[in-house]
Amino acid sequence: MTAFPENFLWGTATAAYQVEGAWAEDGRGPSIWDTFSHTPGLVAGGDTGDAACDHYHRLDEDLGILAALGVGAYRFSISWPRVRPGGRGPLNQAGVDFYDRLIDGLLSRDIAPVATLYHWDLPQELEDAGGWPERDTALRFAEYAQLMGERFGDRVRTWITLNEPWCSAYLGYASGVHAPARTEPAAALAAVHHLNLGHGLAVQALRAVADPAAQLSVTLNLHHVRGVSEGDADAVRRVDAVANRAFLGPMLEGAYPDDLIADTASVTDWSFVRDGDTATACQPLDVLGVNYYNPTLVRQWDGGSGRQTADGHQDGSASPWIGCEDVEFAAQPGPYTEMGWNIDESGLTELLLRLRRDYPDTPLMITENGAAFADAVDADGRVRDERRVDYLHRHLSAVAEAIEAGADVRGYFVWSLMDNFEWAHGYAKRFGIVRVDRETMERTWKDSAFWYRDVVAANGLPAASAAAGHDG
Ligand code: FCB
Repeated sequence: MTAFPENFLWGTATAAYQVEGAWAEDGRGPSIWDTFSHTPGLVAGGDTGDAACDHYHRLDEDLGILAALGVGAYRFSISWPRVRPGGRGPLNQAGVDFYDRLIDGLLSRDIAPVATLYHWDLPQELEDAGGWPERDTALRFAEYAQLMGERFGDRVRTWITLNEPWCSAYLGYASGVHAPARTEPAAALAAVHHLNLGHGLAVQALRAVADPAAQLSVTLNLHHVRGVSEGDADAVRRVDAVANRAFLGPMLEGAYPDDLIADTASVTDWSFVRDGDTATACQPLDVLGVNYYNPTLVRQWDGGSGRQTADGHQDGSASPWIGCEDVEFAAQPGPYTEMGWNIDESGLTELLLRLRRDYPDTPLMITENGAAFADAVDADGRVRDERRVDYLHRHLSAVAEAIEAGADVRGYFVWSLMDNFEWAHGYAKRFGIVRVDRETMERTWKDSAFWYRDVVAANGLPAASAAAGHDG
């Protein structure tokens, strides 16, 4: 057995819009994802998050599943438009009550609440006022962080400001495959900055009001970028700049990298960055959240043959890769998940070791890792998802390897607790360790859930991944 450190935090993760449903109930306001999913043609199958997994009404059942899994933590997100519709003004008490029930329900089961403030559901009114490309959105985000800290800061001990600001900025405002579906590269870079600024302001606000022992964090989907050959070093550097250092720079080092500013000079002069902003973005963090699914492989485009752009984030007509016009995204060897993402856990070990090298004093936490597969329900009702078990086993081994080599990794959260609304892919992509029947909303443990329960109980990985424990 591969053992994990004592006190290693095992958890599962979800996000509000992907699971809650109850989209227009109890005073919740609309978010950019309601607008996006209600726009014909933007989400596969015309799916919306209107009902999602009905988690809002099935809270007790889902808390029971978490307790039976034995996890020490649950990562969820607070829906900004549920607690503060419109993004300004008074709190919506019914929305606050829901999170009170969730947090108290977790604590009474000895499960630590890990709250993400922003998992992409910007109140629509704030987008109508310009969205993340506007500075005011960062200020509204800080207010919201303070309000949440005041309400829940006595009980929530781990806070994540933003989830994957890379997606919010570039998929939301450059390629437009995510809400709010804008394709404006200059606005996307302004969004990058205001997300960084909003993060810093939110950390300051939380520090002022939350429990002094609270762990403050942000979750980044850092790209582990490799070049096809040594001659592709400049392509690697460019992609690393827009994908990773655009956030790591301000948040952890207090400055934007010079090469990022130079690479994007034809798009923007970055004049939206005001004196003191990057110092504000750079707040001490207690832990850095890392989401990892697969590595990225790039090469210099020769300018002739059709340029490959398949980076795994849906090929829109516009590219999310600003300043990378001469970069190709190369196909990677399989096997692949249902998302078309290649399975390569070595990227996770390498990424964790890079972070250890660059930020030796910042502890790490895997806040998402998991895989979508086209699961089948067998005649006996069982879901034998051995490929997901294998994926999780490989990636947990990769985490163990990084820890062995010195990385300070504090925890791991499977994406996801249950099958849910996978953004523009709708419900077709199933990431859950628990299956959700779309007709009845019935929850069924997959083999991977039983397997994960055993890993959590043992605080370690069994030697072989093949036999998933199943006794349900
Ligand atoms: C991440 C998101 C999460 C989920 C997984 C598959 O980018 O944070 O909500 O959609 O991908």
